Amino acid sequence: MAKKTIQPTTLSQAEPDEARDVTIKGDELSLASDPRGRVAEQFRGLRNSVVALNPEGAPRSVVLTSSVAGEGKTIATINLGLALAELPGTEVLLLDANLHSPGIEEKLGLPRRQGLADVLSGSCPIDSAIRATSVGGVHVMGAGNLPDNPSQLLGSERMRTVLGSLKRRFTYVLIDTPEALRISDASLIGGIADGIVLVVRLGLTPRHQVEQTHNTLEALGGNVLGTCLTGAEEENSYD
Ligand SMILES: Nc1ncnc2c1ncn2[C@@H]1O[C@H](COP(=O)(O)OP(=O)(O)OP(=O)(O)O)[C@@H](O)[C@H]1O
Ligand SMILES: [Mg+2]
Repeated sequence: MAKKTIQPTTLSQAEPDEARDVTIKGDELSLASDPRGRVAEQFRGLRNSVVALNPEGAPRSVVLTSSVAGEGKTIATINLGLALAELPGTEVLLLDANLHSPGIEEKLGLPRRQGLADVLSGSCPIDSAIRATSVGGVHVMGAGNLPDNPSQLLGSERMRTVLGSLKRRFTYVLIDTPEALRISDASLIGGIADGIVLVVRLGLTPRHQVEQTHNTLEALGGNVLGTCLTGAEEENSYD
């Protein structure tokens, strides 16, 4: 029998401390660039609502998704993570589960490394995919080498196991995902996470599409905690 070819992975493994000296910046990352500004304060409001829904302080996994692409999921994931990490003793993981168009590492100014896809396919141990950032309490796991079969990986039993182990290490695991109307991945992960925040860019997504997304997420067992509005005078709200 022919020997199975092992596909070489192109991304290298992360060093746990390699990102500690990389300052988190960028205008949209308001918690870092303008921590006293209005948008930062609105993300603290979103954080407070998420925390209020978890009075016993149990580890929680929260999916951030949207109806269509480009509504601000990745920026919202990072800002919410930075806001959560302001609370003493809170350890946050920013987990990039957008295996179609990952963005967390790029927005943090970090090189891409092996990440979630590699952990799910068994080619990288969980700990080797996690990096600390320059902000205390904030860690990151990137998407890793992009697979041909994202939904299969994300819908696997292994995803449930990995999420369980991450919740033993972190207080909040924030999961960035693709847009939910076109790609089913967010609905799949939403069904196994503790909650979902629906990111909505005002003026971009018609209300009926937002409602359709909400219904799809809940039909697959997701618990939609509320919405995060972007691109408006009132940047974020929570209901
Ligand atoms: N709160 C914000 N304030 C200003 N600009 C923002 C904000 N959130 C997002 N943007 C802008 O919108 C663009 C898309 O944001 P982001 O990458 O977070 O969206 P996304 O939903 O993750 O996109 P994709 O579906 O491609 O993953 C960014 O380039 C950013 O400039
Ligand atoms: Mg994104």
